[in-house]
Amino acid sequence: MHVDDAIRERRSIRAFKSDPVPRALLEDLLEIASRAPSGTNVQPWHVHVVMDAARDRLVDRVMAHREAHRAGGAPDASSEYPRATKRKEPYVRRMRTLGKEMYGLLGIPKGDQEASWRQWGRNYEFFSAPVGLIFTIDKDLEYNSWLDIGIMLQTVMLAAKARGLDTCAQGAWNNFWTITKDELNIPDTEYIVCGMSLGYAKEDEPVNTLISEREPLSNFVTFHDG
Ligand SMILES: Cc1cc2nc3c(=O)[nH]c(=O)nc-3n(C[C@H](O)[C@H](O)[C@H](O)COP(=O)(O)O)c2cc1C
Repeated sequence: MHVDDAIRERRSIRAFKSDPVPRALLEDLLEIASRAPSGTNVQPWHVHVVMDAARDRLVDRVMAHREAHRAGGAPDASSEYPRATKRKEPYVRRMRTLGKEMYGLLGIPKGDQEASWRQWGRNYEFFSAPVGLIFTIDKDLEYNSWLDIGIMLQTVMLAAKARGLDTCAQGAWNNFWTITKDELNIPDTEYIVCGMSLGYAKEDEPVNTLISEREPLSNFVTFHDG
């Protein structure tokens, strides 16, 4: 597959078939992805692969915690590391466009908080994907190493696409980190950076037809050529 095709055809998939992904394919995928570059080659990523019973145990615990939190019987555990809370333009507009398009395809009307809550919860079931990836990083590392993890995420997603697999990166897994860390024995010296669903797309699900918008070059590129 040409790299441009992998870049163009990758998109966030939010409904997966239950078809399993063979362990050998996962190893092949992660091995090629480990060729991702990193500053001074520190390779700061740690990838937890959850599948089979381990996946189900994690999903069950996080989903139960989420329900309990909603009912007021469990503490929340929103992101362990700082995330943007103040929203401003042009970011708000882009976020809203995505939300409008995605919830439109899901048939969830604006303001239907119950349905939106349930749909967001699909993140914690890895959108039914058979494999979940949890990316962690040593807390002693700084911004530059977080960049490396971002490159790793995209490398995994493109290599997955080239192998007929689909993905969805999931910041949602920053929440409920106490449960995830406990379940996967992730030490307190690490942050959970991001999760990812991995498997085979349900092609006919409307939500999977979403082609998210992109800004034209003129909105984000400045040429200095004089
Ligand atoms: C770091 C990162 C975190 C994301 N977290 C989530 C998430 O928690 N849930 C979700 O449904 N999509 C998530 N996404 C997917 C984005 O919404 C998606 O990449 C964006 O809308 C562009 O669409 P595309 O991936 O289909 O090109 C995330 C993407 C990235 C890169």
